Amino acid sequence: MCGIVGYIGKRKALPILLNGLKRLEYRGYDSAGVITLDQKNFFIEKEVGKIKNLEEKINKEFGEVDRIDGNVGIAHTRWATHGESSVKNAHPHKDCSGKFWLVHNGIIENYNELKSFLEKRGHKFISDTDTEVLAHLVEENYQGNLLKALETALKKVEGTYGIVLVSKNEPDKLIVARKGSPLLIGVGKDEIIVASDVSAIISYTDKVVYLNDGEIAEIKKDNFKIFNNIKKEEVAKKINKITWDIKEIEKSGFDHFMLKEIFEQKEVFLNAIKGRLLFSEGKAKLGGLDLVADKIRKIKRLIIIGCGSAYNAGVVGEYLIENLAGIPVELEYASEFRYRNSVLEDGVAILAISQSGETADTLAAIREAKEKGVLTLGIVNVVGSTISREVDAGIYNHAGPEISVASTKVFMSQVAVLVLMALYLGRQRKMSLSQGREIIDELQNLPKKIDKVLTLNDEIKKIAQKYFSMKNFAFLGRTYNEPLAFEGALKLKELSYIHAEGFPSGEMKHGPIAMIDKNFPCFFIAPNDSVFKKNLSNMEEIKSRQGKIIAISNKKDKKLEKIIDDLIIIPKTKEYLNPILALIPLQLFAYHMAVLNKKDVDKPRNLAKSVTVE
Ligand code: G6P
Repeated sequence: MCGIVGYIGKRKALPILLNGLKRLEYRGYDSAGVITLDQKNFFIEKEVGKIKNLEEKINKEFGEVDRIDGNVGIAHTRWATHGESSVKNAHPHKDCSGKFWLVHNGIIENYNELKSFLEKRGHKFISDTDTEVLAHLVEENYQGNLLKALETALKKVEGTYGIVLVSKNEPDKLIVARKGSPLLIGVGKDEIIVASDVSAIISYTDKVVYLNDGEIAEIKKDNFKIFNNIKKEEVAKKINKITWDIKEIEKSGFDHFMLKEIFEQKEVFLNAIKGRLLFSEGKAKLGGLDLVADKIRKIKRLIIIGCGSAYNAGVVGEYLIENLAGIPVELEYASEFRYRNSVLEDGVAILAISQSGETADTLAAIREAKEKGVLTLGIVNVVGSTISREVDAGIYNHAGPEISVASTKVFMSQVAVLVLMALYLGRQRKMSLSQGREIIDELQNLPKKIDKVLTLNDEIKKIAQKYFSMKNFAFLGRTYNEPLAFEGALKLKELSYIHAEGFPSGEMKHGPIAMIDKNFPCFFIAPNDSVFKKNLSNMEEIKSRQGKIIAISNKKDKKLEKIIDDLIIIPKTKEYLNPILALIPLQLFAYHMAVLNKKDVDKPRNLAKSVTVE
């Protein structure tokens, strides 16, 4: 989704801004724009499509990008919401005088009213965006103080925003403001880079200050002042250290980030469990949850919320926590939870799962739950993100940056953390010491098994070569693997745009089986577990309708081999840990299907990594 970069310092702004935009490419966008300010002259360029198109346009018109002067500037990648993807709608946007330019993430909900008001006052609009009203509002309110002008303008605005503003009138500063759309300030030596995402700044600095909602800041090349927009007081902020490494946001020899991230999963799994297993006590140590330990002991019901893959990981969590900890668990799409009047009796806790920690629906659901006085917990990957800061307590994934839009390693990590959480909650309740130790024991065996599954890459590629022209797929599983069926289908459709649906295996015969014929393959996740035989019966039902079957199992079973067309054998593990291993072939299959279908693997069409609007 939209990305923001702003620069002020000693160096030429343009190359830094373009580099920052490239780091944000993974978030998804359809046009890009940049403006730099050299004393009193602006350099502006916008283009539809990829950042390289923008760069080519600049090179064609002006030669090399570093020939453009200006030590101040702002840049933006736009994911169209109001108005089509076009040069006129690309950010930055300006006022009538052309003195005030800004970039904006989020949505201005009352932009129609504001536009009519401004048009009556003589302002002329040139784009179809909601953002443009902000630039005119700044012009309308400017009385010699840029910070004040934005502050006053924002009083009239309803909606969400992350804004960076520059002006010819005060060329030595950037003004930034945040409400509901992330913004951070990267503090370098004699330079400051603001961005909507850490990846845009880590090449330049590891020092970062996170803005909170309702904060507005004036940024100069060597200092910044942050004010609370409501109380109008200056706020002192902590400078945080970014722990991510620049290598983590580079492809390191892999063809795609997605493949790299799939192959990072052993490390990611180890990072999720590192320092969190106490074998002698058969427990998990989750420092974040200890902060609200008393409340956690009193949880009687848990509602897990998330979107997309995070939701699917939550469903694995539902099985894990109900079975291992005996706590009733429900899953809710965050976008539904926020608008329904859920019954939240005493003892209910909400657990939000989010890779980015910025998903608008998940954040709004958390705020709704907090409003109702419910304990809120989070499993979040991005350190310092809004959800991680707003929940009462939480657990970080420590999976490192995930660049590919389709989630792989973070899904794995979310499941790993949910196992730890089930262990933590279980040991406070019905789980025995020996069962706790048994879980820990097997968790420690998993890294080498993950490695083994990754060696199946070539085999899975061959299977994809057989099926890549198929137009429909069903993914099926039972119990712990039912959510994997949803995740397998989601991966295939988001990457290859092939129609794919996930079902609980037993549900197939209640309708979906009507679709099955020789051109509608079914992908079963069927380990040798308590429901293996049930899965076999469901496969027979597909076979009798000429449906092709690909299966992931951990048993070379004669009956199974007779029914299936293709078999992927993964190592054995405990029934409840199988999703961690079975997940990998599903990811690899989706990856190869996308490559074979010549799709943009890391940046599928229409998708955004982090959806910060409703
Ligand atoms: C978007 C992404 C999905 C992701 C979902 C939730 O839809 O395309 O891949 O699963 O958001 O994101 P979150 O950052 O909250 O996990």
